[in-house]
Amino acid sequence: MDFPHLHILDADQFSRVDLENVLTGTARIEKLLGANKAFGLLDGKILASLFFESSTRTRLSFETAMNRLGGRVITTVGFQFSSISKGETLYDTMKMIEAYADIAVIRHPVEGSSRIAAGAVSIPVINAGDGIGQHPTQALLDLYTIFKEKNAVEGLRIGFVGDLKYGRTIHSLIKMLRHYNVEIVLISPVDLALPESYRKELRRENVKFEETEDIKALWDCDVAYITRIQEERFADRAEFERLKDSYTINRAFLLGSRKPTTILHPLPRVAELSTDVDDMPTAAYFRQAAYGVAVRMALLMLCLKQEIPAI
Ligand code: NCD
Repeated sequence: MDFPHLHILDADQFSRVDLENVLTGTARIEKLLGANKAFGLLDGKILASLFFESSTRTRLSFETAMNRLGGRVITTVGFQFSSISKGETLYDTMKMIEAYADIAVIRHPVEGSSRIAAGAVSIPVINAGDGIGQHPTQALLDLYTIFKEKNAVEGLRIGFVGDLKYGRTIHSLIKMLRHYNVEIVLISPVDLALPESYRKELRRENVKFEETEDIKALWDCDVAYITRIQEERFADRAEFERLKDSYTINRAFLLGSRKPTTILHPLPRVAELSTDVDDMPTAAYFRQAAYGVAVRMALLMLCLKQEIPAI
């Protein structure tokens, strides 16, 4: 299984073949996990887990992934406890990391920072979220979840709801979906619309998409990808207060759907997704978070150029 990349920085770098390889690799990892045969595949390898921004799922699933493969993890969390708070540049930090670890995963509030990190080192660097930029590994697990829930991506009508402006998971998933024959429905307040650069790309790639503020557009979608209004990205607090309760998806609303709409959410959720949805069979967001481990195990293997055994 050929993976022609050293780093994972941006959804753009993935060809359709790369995406299929990640999905196949993840399915193999799931089998290996089920047969208790994954442990030891990355024996002796060290992952540096560098999280300069809040995270629960992404950090813990990467660390779990490395542990389940039999590798080891070193970690630093927050600027406060790293030498960056003493004025060290990210470049210098990465130069050290290269000597300590075989692969690094980084989350950082500044868009483009993972590319700077990758430029400093010869070990693989994985972008786990760079500000309002990209979050490619989340998009890969979103794609894997769609496959698992719907058996295929082709032909689906996929609705994106919420903060399309600042939501980096949406930015990455939309870029990956251009490789599939799907219809995209963008649902947001005008002030949180998908940035023009992404819409331009969709037009250039001839991806069918519509934009609306009307949440009822979800009733005709096969998949609803709900997102949190990204409070921490707003420069103007009043603007956040005005937009924070734009949509709330609850069970009563979803019962109006004309299709069995699968509900995805990268999590964490706040006001936009009610807990009364959780026990609906179409609520897939906790399964989605769980797939994060297998997807990231596959990515660690691929980046470290290790063959994922088929059993
Ligand atoms: C997302 C993120 O960090 O961008 N969370 C995640 O990685 N699962 C979404 C969010 O914070 O809203």
